[in-house]
Amino acid sequence: MPSEVDAYLSQNSSVFEEQLCELLRIPSVSADSRHKGDIRAAAQWVAGQFRNLGMSPEICETAGHPIVYAEHCQAPGAPTVLVYGHYDVQPPDPLDLWETPPFEPTRRNGNLYARGATDDKGQMFTHVKSAEAWLKTVGKLPVNLKFLIEGEEEVGSAHLDDFIATNREKLKADVCVISDTSQFGPGLPAITYGLRGISYFELKLQGPDRDLHSGVFGGAAVNPAGALVKMLAALVDGDGRVQVPGFYDDVLPLTERERKEFAALPYDEAEFKKSIGVAELNGEKGFTNIERRWARPTCDINGLTSGYQGEGAKTVLPAKASAKFSFRLVPNQEPDKLKTALEAMLKKLCPVGIQMELISYHGAPGVVVPLESPYVAAAVEAVAHGFGRKPVFIREGGSIPVVSTFHELLGVDTLLLGWGLNDDNTHSPNEKFCLADFHRGIKASAALWEQLGKLKK
Ligand code: BES
Ligand code: ZN
Repeated sequence: MPSEVDAYLSQNSSVFEEQLCELLRIPSVSADSRHKGDIRAAAQWVAGQFRNLGMSPEICETAGHPIVYAEHCQAPGAPTVLVYGHYDVQPPDPLDLWETPPFEPTRRNGNLYARGATDDKGQMFTHVKSAEAWLKTVGKLPVNLKFLIEGEEEVGSAHLDDFIATNREKLKADVCVISDTSQFGPGLPAITYGLRGISYFELKLQGPDRDLHSGVFGGAAVNPAGALVKMLAALVDGDGRVQVPGFYDDVLPLTERERKEFAALPYDEAEFKKSIGVAELNGEKGFTNIERRWARPTCDINGLTSGYQGEGAKTVLPAKASAKFSFRLVPNQEPDKLKTALEAMLKKLCPVGIQMELISYHGAPGVVVPLESPYVAAAVEAVAHGFGRKPVFIREGGSIPVVSTFHELLGVDTLLLGWGLNDDNTHSPNEKFCLADFHRGIKASAALWEQLGKLKK
C-alpha cells in the first residue's frame, strides 16, 4: 500500500474516532417511529461524509427510511465494488443496564461504547475512511467504488429490494463488500462465507373482551396467556427440534468437511459459557454449539406480553396475550413456505374461545457465498495486511437480508469482512467496538481497494 495512505491513517486516527462519535450520537433507531427525524439526520450525516470526498451523494427516499447512495467510479478497467452498510441501529433497551448512555459514545479499556458502535456504524465507517485515505493522498482510488448505506437493516430491509430492482444499472458491480459481521475471536480475523436467514412473526391472542377478575371469572374462559405459552411451547421439542411440519424438509445438511473445519477452530466451550453467563449449553441434539449457531435452523421467542407487568400482585385474567418470535433459517429454506405451515399449525393449536392473529414482519433466506474467487483471495491479503494475521473462514448465525438480494438481482457475490467481536454486545446493553479493530478495519479496507484494483477486468 502506498506509504502516504498508511501515514494518513495513522495521522488521522483520532479524527476518525471523533467523527464516528458524531454519528453514534444520532439515535437512529429504525424500529421506533419516534426516531424518524434522527434516522434522517443520520442519513444526512453519512451523505455529508461522501460530499467531503468530492462525491455527489444522493439521499434516496423509500416508503420507509432513506437510502444513502454515493459513488466514485474513475478507475477504468478496474473492478467495481459495491459497499453496503447500515446507519440504523437496534433499540437501546433496556436502558438501565447501560453503564454509560447508549447515545453518548464513551471510551473505556480501548473500546468505544455506544449503540451502533460495531453494528454497523463503526464497521460501515471503516470503508468511508479508507476511501478518504486514498483520495486525500494519492488523489484517486484503485477501484470503482459504489456505496449503498441503508436505514432499515435492523427492521428487515423492507424497501431495499425494490430500490435495488429499480436501480440495477446504477448498482452494477463485480463484487460486494459488507462489514457487519465478526472476527472469530480477538486477534483472529475471519471471512464469513455463510449467514442464517430469518422469519419474524408476532402472534396475538384475544380472549374475553376485557381484563377480568381472576377470582370471579377464572375457570370460565380460556386465559389467552395460558393459551399463548402452550402454543409457543409446542414449537420446539425437548431435543431442540422445531416442530412446524415440513420445517426440515429443505434444510441442506452440513457437509463432513465443514463439520471438521468448524471443529478445528480454536474454540473453548468453558470460555464460551462464561461469556454468556450460563452454566450449561443446550440446543438441537446431535450438533455442536458452533454448528447449532452457524448452520442449523432455530426458533426463539423474542418478546412476550400479557397481563399485569407493574409492581406487586394483581389478580387478573388478561384479555390479550402476544408474543414476538422468529426462526433462523439455513440456506435452501424458504421464509414464505414456513409462514404457511406455521399458520396452519398455530390454528390447530389455538383453543376454542381464543381468536388468533399471526403477523409476519420480515423474512430473508440464509446464504452461503463461494470461496473460490480471486476476490476472496484479494480479501485474504487485505485482511492480513490490516490485522497482521490471515483470516479463518467461518459461517455465522446472524442475518443480513441484502446478501441474497445482491446475488439474485445483481448476480454478484458478497465479501463478508467482519471487524467485530462476539462479545461486542450487539443488540444488547453496552454495545462496544474495539478501537484497535476499528483502525485495523480501516487499514484492511484501504488494502482491499489496492488488492481488488490489481484484478483487472
Ligand atoms: N450485524 C447483524 C448481522 C450479523 C450479526 C451477522 C452477527 C453475523 C453475525 C445485523 O445488523 C443484524 O442484526 N441483522 C438482523 C437482521 C434482521 C433484523 C432481518 C438480525 O440478524 O437479527
Ligand atoms: Zn448490522
